[in-house]
Amino acid sequence: MFTFDGRPIPHDGRQSVAAALLAAGIRSWRSTRVEGRPRGVFCGIGVCFDCLVTVNGVPSQRACLVVARSGDVIEPQDERREGT
Ligand code: FES
Repeated sequence: MFTFDGRPIPHDGRQSVAAALLAAGIRSWRSTRVEGRPRGVFCGIGVCFDCLVTVNGVPSQRACLVVARSGDVIEPQDERREGT
């Protein structure tokens, strides 16, 4: 398990953070800078940067590339709020 926004999320030890979030029914975890529109996986291969999350306090990690690890603390990114 890792946590996403305080919620426990299971993973199989091989999944990316994005895959585990999608399996848990979570489809968006970032909001865009200008209009605050929801974003999640788009390309799924590390190209588009739509899937950014904060992992253990490190912002702007691509959820489709980061392998989920037990104990990770994953937070959504609201770019309007954080200015990243
Ligand atoms: S979904 Fe495109 S970089 Fe992750």
